[in-house]
Amino acid sequence: MVSSTFSFALSIFFLNSFALSLNSIITDKHALISFRNSITSDPNAILSTNWSQNTSVCNWIGVSCGLKHRRVTALNLSGYDLAGTAAPHLGNLTFLRYLDISFNNFSGFLPFELSKLRRLKVMNVGANSFTGEMPTCGSIPREIGRLSYLRELHLGYNDGFQGGVPTEIGNLSRLEILNIDNASLTRDIPSSIFNISFLTQLSLRDNGLSGSIPTLLNLPRIEVLYLGNNKLRGIGSGQ
Ligand SMILES: *[C@@H]1O[C@H](CO)[C@@H](O)[C@H](O)[C@H]1NC(C)=O
Ligand SMILES: *[C@@H]1O[C@H](CO)[C@@H](O)[C@H](O)[C@H]1NC(C)=O
Ligand SMILES: *[C@@H]1O[C@H](CO)[C@@H](O)[C@H](O)[C@H]1NC(C)=O
Ligand SMILES: *[C@@H]1O[C@H](CO)[C@@H](O)[C@H](O)[C@H]1NC(C)=O
Ligand SMILES: *[C@@H]1O[C@H](CO)[C@@H](O)[C@H](O)[C@H]1NC(C)=O
Ligand SMILES: *[C@@H]1O[C@H](CO)[C@@H](O)[C@H](O)[C@H]1NC(C)=O
Ligand SMILES: *[C@@H]1O[C@H](CO)[C@@H](O)[C@H](O)[C@H]1NC(C)=O
Ligand SMILES: *[C@@H]1O[C@H](CO)[C@@H](O)[C@H](O)[C@H]1NC(C)=O
Repeated sequence: MVSSTFSFALSIFFLNSFALSLNSIITDKHALISFRNSITSDPNAILSTNWSQNTSVCNWIGVSCGLKHRRVTALNLSGYDLAGTAAPHLGNLTFLRYLDISFNNFSGFLPFELSKLRRLKVMNVGANSFTGEMPTCGSIPREIGRLSYLRELHLGYNDGFQGGVPTEIGNLSRLEILNIDNASLTRDIPSSIFNISFLTQLSLRDNGLSGSIPTLLNLPRIEVLYLGNNKLRGIGSGQ
């Protein structure tokens, strides 16, 4: 009796964990299908032919899964000439560490839901047509500051993130690379940016940023500092 109760409990446990993991990979698949559905132009038919419902998402072009849990850990569709919007469902890829959709023609706002990707180490959405105002909801939400594992953030070469750099980027304490070149930024650079001690590359060229650089920089590892072609006071342009 005791043992049958125990095995019953055990089977419920396995059933639950099975349902849970099934649910999870289904969530990943659902997220990727929604992402694909928001793409309006795929000239090389990469996604329409390869992202087949019948095969595991882990075999799809640009998708990588973790060995242990078989969850999606990387999405790299850099340079496929894709156009459309970035579906908010991307925020459901809970295990994502690398997101690279650079060198395409994605437009509209960067979905706020990307800030749910807590395990993200690299976000590269540069060289697209993203627009919107940075500090408010829409383009770069303030919540981006919650991505505490982020090491690389590339937002540059987009049509325009009018507005300033969100102060919350200063919360990304592990950030090593920050690039927001040529993205129509205005206002002062928040001093919190000059306080990210892991930064090795900081590049904010070709914007309309104003204000001056604080005299106290906490950038002990900095190797590349590009702030040229802005409206800054108190620093030479260029390197
Ligand atoms: C999709 O592309 C991957 C990588 O090139 C390949 O291994 C896979 O077989 C392709 N799947 C389909 C359904 O074409
Ligand atoms: C996918 O599987 C269904 C049935 O399981 C089959 O009818 C369909 O032809 C398959 N599609 C592809 C692209 O293999
Ligand atoms: C994505 O793929 C491109 C081309 O293969 C590569 O250069 C880039 O480093 C990759 N991005 C990430 C985040 O791994
Ligand atoms: C995923 O994200 C979308 C939009 O952010 C949401 O509507 C959906 O319910 C989420 N959950 C699942 C399990 O797909
Ligand atoms: C990118 O998309 C926008 C509209 O979303 C369009 O106006 C523009 O021509 C596209 N650019 C390229 C290079 O395809
Ligand atoms: C940024 O960090 C401060 C203090 O550590 C915290 O109060 C704030 O909520 C954080 N903001 C975000 C968006 O994570
Ligand atoms: C900035 O990007 C635009 C395209 O969005 C391009 O036409 C322009 O030449 C770039 N400016 C610089 C200084 O790189
Ligand atoms: C810089 O970081 C220190 C500690 O890491 C913190 O006390 C201080 O408030 C930060 N300054 C700015 C301007 O973010």
